[in-house]
Amino acid sequence: MPRVIHHQPDPAPAGGDAAPAPGEAVRDTFGRPLRDLRISVTDRCNFRCTYCMPRELFGADHAFLPQGALLTFEEITRVARIALQGGVRKIRLTGGEPLLRKQIETLVGMLAGLRTPEGAPPELTLTTNGTLLARKARALADAGLTRVTVSLDALDDALFERMSDSGVPVATILDGIEAAAAAGLAPVKVNMVVRRGMNDGQILPMARHFRGTGHTLRFIEYMDVGNTNGWRMDEVVTGAEIVRIIGAEFPLRPLQARYRGEVANRWAYADGAGEIGLITSVSQPFCGDCTRLRLSPEGRLFTCLFAEQGHDLRALLRAGADDAALAARLAGVWRARDDRYSERRGEAHRDHKIEMSYIGG
Ligand code: GTP
Ligand code: 5AD
Ligand code: SF4
Ligand code: SF4
Repeated sequence: MPRVIHHQPDPAPAGGDAAPAPGEAVRDTFGRPLRDLRISVTDRCNFRCTYCMPRELFGADHAFLPQGALLTFEEITRVARIALQGGVRKIRLTGGEPLLRKQIETLVGMLAGLRTPEGAPPELTLTTNGTLLARKARALADAGLTRVTVSLDALDDALFERMSDSGVPVATILDGIEAAAAAGLAPVKVNMVVRRGMNDGQILPMARHFRGTGHTLRFIEYMDVGNTNGWRMDEVVTGAEIVRIIGAEFPLRPLQARYRGEVANRWAYADGAGEIGLITSVSQPFCGDCTRLRLSPEGRLFTCLFAEQGHDLRALLRAGADDAALAARLAGVWRARDDRYSERRGEAHRDHKIEMSYIGG
C-alpha cells in the first residue's frame, strides 16, 4: 500500500547563503532564474480525485495539518515580498483546494498590494477545483486576483463523479467558470488531466464545449506525482495524440510560445474559435526552463513538483529572522537547485515524493 508522505525530514541548510541584489533574479545550478512562486495555502480538499487524494488514503481519519502549522497570511505575504525581491514575477495560489482556506480573499488583497522592484504588481493567479468559485469570484477579483485556472476532467456527470469522488455536479463547476469570467478573471484556463481508459473519451466533448467561449482549455498529461496514484506510463495520453484527436474534427495550427518557459504548447482553432494548450511534462519535459519555486502550507520550500525533501522557512520566520536572513535562505535554496525530474523520469525510482494535494500543481 503506498503511503501518504508529508514529513520527510528536510536537509540541513547549505552554508554560504547570501541575498541577491534587489531585483536581481537568483539563478540555480543550471542557470535557471527564479520567476514563479506557487503558494499552497492548505492541504485540504473537498474532492477526492482518484489520482490525487484517493479516499482509501485520505479518509475520515487522515491527519491534515493543524491550523497552527499553517503559515499565517502575514507570513505568506512576507515570504512573497522577499521572493519578489529575488526575481519572482508570478504568484499562484494553490492547495489542496485554496478556496477552502478561510478569508482567502484577504490574502489575495495582501499579495496584490505587493510590488516588484520595478514598482509593478505581481501577476497573481489561483488554481481551483471550481466548487466555491461562483460564490467567491467577485470577492477574489475585487481583492486584486488577475486570473483563475479551474480543474475539470469531464463534462459527463457520472464520470466526473467517479473521478472527483465528490458528489458535486459538473454544472457547479461550469457556473464557477462563468462567474469567474464575468468577474473579469479572464481568460479562464480550464485544466483537464487526461487518463487513458478513464476520461480520454471526454477530450472531444470538452473541446466542443469550450471552443468559442473565450476560456482556454488545456490538456495535462497524467503525471507520476506523489506516491499514491499507482501511475502507469500506458495511462498517459500524449499531447501529440490529443492534437490528432481534436485536429481531426477541428483543424488546428500551432502557436508560438509567448515567453521562454511557457508550460503549455498552444494550438489555435483554424476557424478562429480560440485556442487549446497541451501540457506535456511526460512526453516533452520542460525542466530546462523551469523557474518555479513552491511554498508548502506549513512553510517549506520545494524546488520541484517531484521533490522528496523541502527546506523549512517557517522555523526562521517564527524565530524572528530579519528580511536579509530570509532572503539569503531563499537565495541559498534556489542556488543549490539541480532538479530536472521529468527529464530523467525512469532513471531513479522515488517513493517519497511530496503529494500533489500538499504542494499543488
Ligand atoms: P499560466 O500562467 O496560467 O499559463 O500558468 P501555467 O501555464 O504555468 O499553468 P498552471 O500553473 O496552471 O500549470 C498547469 C499544470 O501544469 C499544473 O497543474 C501541473 O499539472 C503542470 N505543471 C505546472 N508546473 C509544472 C512543473 O513545474 N513541472 C511539471 N512537471 N508540471 C507542471
Ligand atoms: N497528473 C497531472 N495533473 C495532475 N493534477 C493533479 N494530479 C495530477 C497528476 N497526477 C492536476 C489537477 C489540477 C492541477 C492542480 O494539477 O487536476 O488541474
Ligand atoms: Fe482533485 Fe485538485 Fe483536490 Fe487533488 S487538490 S483532489 S486534483 S481537486
Ligand atoms: Fe520543474 Fe521539476 Fe517539473 Fe522539471 S519536473 S519542470 S524541474 S517542477
